[in-house]
Amino acid sequence: MNERDNIKKALSEVLDPSIDKTLGESDAIRYIGIEEEDDKKTIILIVGIGQEDDKTKQKVKRSIAKILKIDMGYMGVKIEFEPLKKKDSILDEGKKIKYIGVASGKGGVGKSTVAANLAVALKRIGKKVGIIDADIYGSSIPTIMDMEITSPKADEDEKIIPFVAHGIPLISTEFFLKKDQPLMWRGPMLGKMLNHFFYDVKWDDDIEYIIVDLPPGTGDVAMDIQKLIPECAMVIVTTPHPSASHIAVKAGFAARQLEHNILGVVENMSYLSHAGETLNIFGEGGGDTVADRLNTDVISRIPIGQPKSGHHSIFDMSEEIGVSYLGLANQLIQDV
Ligand SMILES: Nc1ncnc2c1ncn2[C@@H]1O[C@H](COP(=O)(O)OP(=O)(O)O)[C@@H](O)[C@H]1O
Ligand SMILES: [Mg+2]
Repeated sequence: MNERDNIKKALSEVLDPSIDKTLGESDAIRYIGIEEEDDKKTIILIVGIGQEDDKTKQKVKRSIAKILKIDMGYMGVKIEFEPLKKKDSILDEGKKIKYIGVASGKGGVGKSTVAANLAVALKRIGKKVGIIDADIYGSSIPTIMDMEITSPKADEDEKIIPFVAHGIPLISTEFFLKKDQPLMWRGPMLGKMLNHFFYDVKWDDDIEYIIVDLPPGTGDVAMDIQKLIPECAMVIVTTPHPSASHIAVKAGFAARQLEHNILGVVENMSYLSHAGETLNIFGEGGGDTVADRLNTDVISRIPIGQPKSGHHSIFDMSEEIGVSYLGLANQLIQDV
């Protein structure tokens, strides 16, 4: 191996924290020059990084300097950063995609059902919409959208082709969990799944909205979302029950701490319409409590009900709940 190859190999393990990939994985080392003066060598580098903020630059710079100066004994290092070309990534600058994250404090409140029906409603209004099922460890979008689990396919650039249900392109961990598959998926799969959803999926060029089904609560994925799409606006889902709303407040506050714009609260399983009566089976006030605490509004109350069409969870326009989601979608279009 020549000297440049040695340097490249040594630096390939350096992590770019803005995309959670090593410089080797993102093929980020663009140029290696060696300047020699009085037997002392300075290394000149051009390095691609995911986000050109000072923090990322500092971190990458420090890791590189440690390897080159301390481990390899070079006298100095000069680094130029340039944007990592995210070829065809939906995160490319210039794409005006609007992201709507659907979050909840706890599981089972209907977060994924709301996310899926919201996407379908946006499509019915005529918007180009996609879904990212970011509930990596508890993904349910494929079931909710009546999908069969089939193998992922890639195009000639090794980009994953999104799956389609109810006319909506989407991506979910569900499709990648079989042992013998994922051709192009390297490393610890689940941990890197989210990055793949953003960087390695061949989304249509004209997508306007992406609905992100977030995991319940706040955790690493929420942090990653903040890194990848800081502009993601949030819808908080709760049920009317005080215990659900208590936790939803926490999730909402966390989202606010992370500086996401909160669009409002959806109170799901809000009531049951039965024989002309409205029954508050799961209690009352959860949505209002959450909205008050987050200084926002309850933007929709979705009753308890199952689709009559035979779909798993998607409501038709002939059903009252289907119409409710259309109202929600219309409101969100104005607020995002
Ligand atoms: N409005 C509703 N009425 C009746 N059942 C609902 C309603 N919303 C969701 N469900 C059901 O509740 C369960 C949990 O919903 P899901 O969307 O998977 O929740 P989460 O994503 O918050 O875990 C599912 O079985 C779903 O069909
Ligand atoms: Mg879910």
